[in-house]
Amino acid sequence: MKTLTIIKPDDWHLHLREGLVLKNIIQYTSEYYGRAVIMPNTKSPITSIDSAITYKKSIAEALPESSKFEPLMTMYLSDETDKGELINGFKNNVFFAAKLYPANATTNSSHGVKKIENLYEIFESMQDSGMPLLIHGEVTDSEVDIFDREEVFIDRELSAIARRFPKLKIVLEHITTSYAVDFVQENNIGATITPHHLHINRNAMFFGGLNSDFYCLPVAKRESNRLALRKAATSGKECFFLGTDSAPHLIKWKAFCGCAGIFNSPVALESYLTVFEEENALDNFEKFASLNGPKFYNMPPNREKLKLVSRLNKVAEFIDVIEDKNIVGQIKPFHAGETLKWQVEGIVN
Ligand code: NCD
Ligand code: ZN
Repeated sequence: MKTLTIIKPDDWHLHLREGLVLKNIIQYTSEYYGRAVIMPNTKSPITSIDSAITYKKSIAEALPESSKFEPLMTMYLSDETDKGELINGFKNNVFFAAKLYPANATTNSSHGVKKIENLYEIFESMQDSGMPLLIHGEVTDSEVDIFDREEVFIDRELSAIARRFPKLKIVLEHITTSYAVDFVQENNIGATITPHHLHINRNAMFFGGLNSDFYCLPVAKRESNRLALRKAATSGKECFFLGTDSAPHLIKWKAFCGCAGIFNSPVALESYLTVFEEENALDNFEKFASLNGPKFYNMPPNREKLKLVSRLNKVAEFIDVIEDKNIVGQIKPFHAGETLKWQVEGIVN
């Protein structure tokens, strides 16, 4: 049996939701990761210091008592963002970063930014104070083909931002194309890569009929892109790091509205590890999962270690959402019903 012991990882892109869902899913991240960047696209988005403090408190209350997990809060940028609030929140350690969603790009993003240039003054202050900018990089122009939206965003928006603010710490989130892989490396920015974009290409959405289980945003692209992402993630290069984009939706909602998002936190490490093993790159897994992110953000790596073992690991078909011992909903995890070859053993000191 093979084993791998790495520095405890961090998740640099995570949706925890609120209320009952938050309470039922948080342990999948808090048990094995030191920190996670918490996305602000809650039903009512996190646009103020007060709302971030309240949200962080509800996350702390949902954690098991002895947990050392640290949620890193983000502010949702909108056309109405108050620069003072944003920078104050960063300087006072309420906000770790700001998140840019182009309006209507994804789940709960209707309050997102309509004209990105209007935020340039804010980007200037973020650059001056060292506040990271996390970007959902897709245009929302309905005339642009959905499979081209990341590439067009890079050409129309991101290249201008990167040129104009060379010292701004930018992360292009959940990249899906070889075009993004190249842009990130050539422009001194960072990128998160999800487990699902390393495993599936766009065919997955059409296997056995229209299949919303594999619908997320940005949508998976053609196979050549998946292969470029696998090469990037497993390369060990400092600009690429772990961000699961685990985004739970109750099955009843996913079936009803086809909401975008894949819930992968129960199996993310094992899922990534499968890819690293297939690519003969197990030696680079610690860099991707535990070292490159902290280095990019100028933070120390976690102190504890995590042990993983190669052992058959059957993934549940559903994860129950429980309230007062009653099952009130279910969420389908990524790799549901599959048997993976790796399993997290636990924290070792
Ligand atoms: C995310 C969600 O559900 O909040 N969905 C997704 O498909 N990734 C939002 C996001 O990160 O785009
Ligand atoms: Zn996301």
